[in-house]
Amino acid sequence: MRIQTAIGAGLLSLALASCNNAPADEGTTEAAAPALTELPVSINATMVGLIDNSADYIWTVGNGDMPKNELDWDLVRSATYDMILGGQVMKVPGTGEFDHQWTAEENWQEWADQLTLIGQDALPLAEAQSTDVEAWRAIGDRLIENCEGCHNAFKPELPSEGILHRSTERESRGISMFD
Ligand code: HEC
Repeated sequence: MRIQTAIGAGLLSLALASCNNAPADEGTTEAAAPALTELPVSINATMVGLIDNSADYIWTVGNGDMPKNELDWDLVRSATYDMILGGQVMKVPGTGEFDHQWTAEENWQEWADQLTLIGQDALPLAEAQSTDVEAWRAIGDRLIENCEGCHNAFKPELPSEGILHRSTERESRGISMFD
């Protein structure tokens, strides 16, 4: 995206310069910004690198593993933003073999929007630094339903690019996410 924008802006200023020698006007570059049509990574990589990693912070709070300081709360709040934004990112195909096929499905788009909604509902809790475990658990339950729903519909048994999740389930080993 950033590369495309830079190229677009470069071409535009070149065009302007060759036309009338006018200096590039900052305002005109904004209207020329291209739409986001393809991501530079695969959906598989987005899942492992962004979604899965961050979802763990939301689940852990729902399991009563509470943030201990401001930095921990920042991690939880960032995780809610990752759900909000990640849902929208997933609506755009990346470099994975089946990405275009998946994102073309209406179902897919709905699951992705749902993820954004869950993140939007979690954000106020994170901003209020809520220690209401039940409220966090309810968010976590919706999150699981979302991941599993979409995976049941679309996820191949082995991820197309072989990028796999290594368990970060620290809780199963009795270790807090926030130590
Ligand atoms: C809109 C559909 C969709 C949603 C929502 C979704 N996933 Fe995925 N996920 C996929 C698909 C499809 C793949 C396989 C990608 C591939 O193989 O290229 C995948 C792959 C993964 C992988 C890597 C493969 C593996 O088995 O380790 C992880 C981890 C993952 N998802 C976690 C999550 C989590 C956690 C959530 C919810 C917070 C979630 N996903 C929500 C569609 C989705």
